[in-house]
Order: sequence, then C-alpha cells, then structure tokens
Amino acid sequence: MPVDAPGLDDGVTAVAHPNIALVKYWGKRDERLILPVTDSLSLTLDAFPTTTTVRPDPALSTDEVTLNGIAAEGEAHRRVTTFLDLVRARAGSTERAAVTTLNSVPTGAGLASSASGFAALAVASAAAYGLRLDATALSRLTRRGSGSASRSIFGGFAVWYAGPEDDAGDDRARDLASYAEPVSAELDPALVIALLDTGPKAVSSRAAMKRTVGTSPLYRPWAESSRADLAQMREALLRGDLEAVGEIAERNALGMHATMLAARPAVRYLSPASLTVLDAVLELRRAGIPAYATIDAGPNVKVLCRRGDADRVAGAVRAAAACRVVVTGRGPGARLHSGVR
Ligand code: PMV
Repeated sequence: MPVDAPGLDDGVTAVAHPNIALVKYWGKRDERLILPVTDSLSLTLDAFPTTTTVRPDPALSTDEVTLNGIAAEGEAHRRVTTFLDLVRARAGSTERAAVTTLNSVPTGAGLASSASGFAALAVASAAAYGLRLDATALSRLTRRGSGSASRSIFGGFAVWYAGPEDDAGDDRARDLASYAEPVSAELDPALVIALLDTGPKAVSSRAAMKRTVGTSPLYRPWAESSRADLAQMREALLRGDLEAVGEIAERNALGMHATMLAARPAVRYLSPASLTVLDAVLELRRAGIPAYATIDAGPNVKVLCRRGDADRVAGAVRAAAACRVVVTGRGPGARLHSGVR
C-alpha cells in the first residue's frame, strides 16, 4: 500500500447531511441525466448524517451494498450499482465494490435520506476510485444519483441550477450546466422537524414527480412561479429577512403539493397530522412568532423559525401533533472521513 494511502484496505468513508429545499425541486426534464425543470434552493442540516464506506475489491463479481446492516436488494441495490457504474466509467475501472451505509435518518420517508445518502456515496466512491473532483464536479456527479443530493455537497444554503431550458447542446454540455453551489445568506435559522410518520412512502418522489409533470394541469404554472420564488428567496436570504424567506418557502412547498394533488391519479403525501402541524404554525404566527412550514415527499413537516424561538415552536408542534420533534439548523457539506487517497 502506498504510504500516503492510510486505511485504503478498509475503504474510503464519507459523511453527508440531508438538505431541505426552501424552493423545491419537483420535476425532471431529462430522466437519464437528472436535469430538473427549475432551479431549487436548500438548507443543509446539522442532523441525521449518513456515513458511507466504499471499498473496491477485485475479488467481487457484483457490488455488495449494505444499508443499516441489511443487504440491499432490488431497486435500492440497482440505484447504487448504476451510480457506481458512472464513477467506474470515469475512473476507467471495472472493479466492483463493497458499500456500507449507516443512515441516521429514516429511509424513504420524505426526510431527504436520498440526499445525504447519494452525497456520501458520491464523495466516498469518487475518492475510492481515484477521481479528483472539485466540489462543483462532485455536485454534478451526485446529481446523477439523486437530484436533491447535489445540494448536500455544500453546507448551509445551496442553489442547484437546472441549466438552460432549450437543451440544445450535447449530453456533456447539458450535464456541465446543472450543478449546485453555495448561496450567500445573512441568516442562521432553525428548522424544527415534526416526525409524524417515518415509514417508507407509498409512492417514490421519482415516480410522483414524473406523474406530476406528465399529468398535472397545475405543474407548469407552479414551475413558472417557482422561478420568481427563487429570485426573491435569494434576495431575502441576502437581507437576512426570515419572514420573507419563510413566506416564500411555505408558498413554494404548498404549491408543489397542489401540483401533485392535481395529478392524475393524485399523489397525496400530506396526512391529517401534516395539516394539524400547518394549523399549529398558523397559530404561532398569530401569536407573533415567525414560523413557516415546508413539506417534502412525505407527511413530515419542517418548520423554519428563529433559533431563539425553536424551543417554543418545537413545544407547540409537539403539543399539537403528539409527535417526536427534532430541532435542527445549518449543517456542513459532505466530506471525506478517512482513507483519503
Ligand atoms: O432527489 P429526490 O428524488 O429525492 O427528490 C426530492 C424532491 C423533494 O425533496 C420533494 C424536494 C427537494 O427539492 O428536495
């Protein structure tokens, strides 16, 4: 083993955190390259990290994927192998790998486990196969695993660019144009997460957004208004205007759910408990506490508020929905943990 490659026999380990979008990604214009219809903007959290180790092994005839101690099969295994095939193609390798992932966020419950999962997998596998990529290139690569994961390469606020809509270029040019980067913000808010249901969702976000783009009459109007939301969100973040950030985030998320409710057949992730938390958030605002909700592809509600109000907001949400509540904030970007080549 080369002297500058400590621990490579044990593989390369990376850690990444989930991100929650304040202006959502909902809808692809290219399924294969994972090019979105609109730009999106998120906050990477300081909770629920995913830790992934990738160990290429010439003795393996297929990738061995273990997720929280259990061998992954079917779709979960296929997504990891498809992603590793991309990394291998770029690295000129055919070596299969053992992949071990510890996810501290419930998988498939709309809590952005795919974001932390694919960001950790991208950082670990790129290093394990000897690819030297800067953060922008890593975010592009990560995008191919899961679109929202491209934003978890960066800590704090990040924007993911869709790239030009006309799609005139070749695949390489289109791929290059869609990546994430950090966003300047004068804001360090809390995000209070109501864990209403941590079981896997009935419809994957991938299938749900495809159906929405294909059948919902509300999709195009939402995508159009989302462009304006993003521009206003960037300005509000620069001003450190929590009220404006929250209002934009809440309307963008509820609009996204409206597009799904109008899909044929409808996709509904919101549960009665989600609506209960939305009511509690309204009550908080009536009481003068700036608190704003956002919801992803699952029933769980995340409430944006000032750090100083987080305990009060958490208490109100817990009392309303009788659920577990986790207070999170701005977290770090994906990074190598050990075994750096
Ligand atoms: O990247 P995916 O397939 O996990 O899509 C996630 C989409 C939302 O979480 C609902 C919104 C977002 O921008 O993260």
